[in-house]
Amino acid sequence: MTSKGFRVSKAVIPAAGLGTRFLPATKAMPKEMLPIVDKPVIQYVVEEAVAAGLSDLLMITGRNKNTLENHFDRVAELEQVLSQKGDEKKLFSVQASNQLADIHYTRQGDPRGLGHAVLRAKSHVGHNSFAVLLGDDIIDSRDACLSQMLKLHEETGDNVVALMEVPKEQIHLYGVASIGAQDGDVVEVIDLVEKPEADKAPSNLAVIGRYVLRPEMFDILESTQPGRGGEIQLTDALQHAAKHPEIAGGVRGVIFRGRRYDTGDKLDFIKATLRIAVDREDIGDDLRDWLKGFSKEL
Ligand code: UTP
Repeated sequence: MTSKGFRVSKAVIPAAGLGTRFLPATKAMPKEMLPIVDKPVIQYVVEEAVAAGLSDLLMITGRNKNTLENHFDRVAELEQVLSQKGDEKKLFSVQASNQLADIHYTRQGDPRGLGHAVLRAKSHVGHNSFAVLLGDDIIDSRDACLSQMLKLHEETGDNVVALMEVPKEQIHLYGVASIGAQDGDVVEVIDLVEKPEADKAPSNLAVIGRYVLRPEMFDILESTQPGRGGEIQLTDALQHAAKHPEIAGGVRGVIFRGRRYDTGDKLDFIKATLRIAVDREDIGDDLRDWLKGFSKEL
């Protein structure tokens, strides 16, 4: 295939998980709808995909999907009220989410793991390479890494994962890469292990929620058996690709050193809120002042 064959325009955004770490907030609404300041997590993710040049998005949704779809749809009566009031700023903010991209939706059915969610995109994606952005994982727009991953995929035709250095005590929460040759922040991934114990982890490089995959990965996923936690793991399919590059290309990693938040985790969610809010024009200065006083109380 020429580099043209590896050009990517489609993104898959899995957002069908149960969000058990955030209960009871996620009992009746998806965790991807929790707001960071005044925008739901999912909108940050969609904006990142669009900023990287991806125009055709497929969201994998599950129970309580309506709020996700509604958020990216028009609300005519709300627009009318804001327009009558002459409140252009708010009008623009509600219109922004429904003009972002061409967003499609499909349901996962049972949430049987991330690999299973990605497999639901097979017919929409067809024979094209595609990006996967986890719907609860925010990468700060000031430190974007998806464009670099897309470029690497286009140049090499390999599957690309985003990796991040994590402390030893957190490594058991992630899929972890065993790496070969390294060129700056780009590494060859020779193996992957899902959620290893700290002393069995092959490195401190954890897979975070951004991937660029070849369509052959669907074939691998179809024959991937449920792994850890009884779920079909994307990590297991990537491990297979890394070990058998003749099937679906090899796997490379881009080491990301910027700001990234797993908003499905309560502490990370609060950190994301604070780091994004302190730089907001409308509330940033006041929040900084308050935080300075508050830190003295700790
Ligand atoms: P997580 O493992 O963080 O989601 O998956 P979860 O299962 O909802 O988390 P907890 O542990 O119960 O809190 C990462 C992303 O993959 C999606 C999730 O919605 C999230 O955006 N996902 C996960 C699916 O779409 N389907 C699944 O079966 C699992």
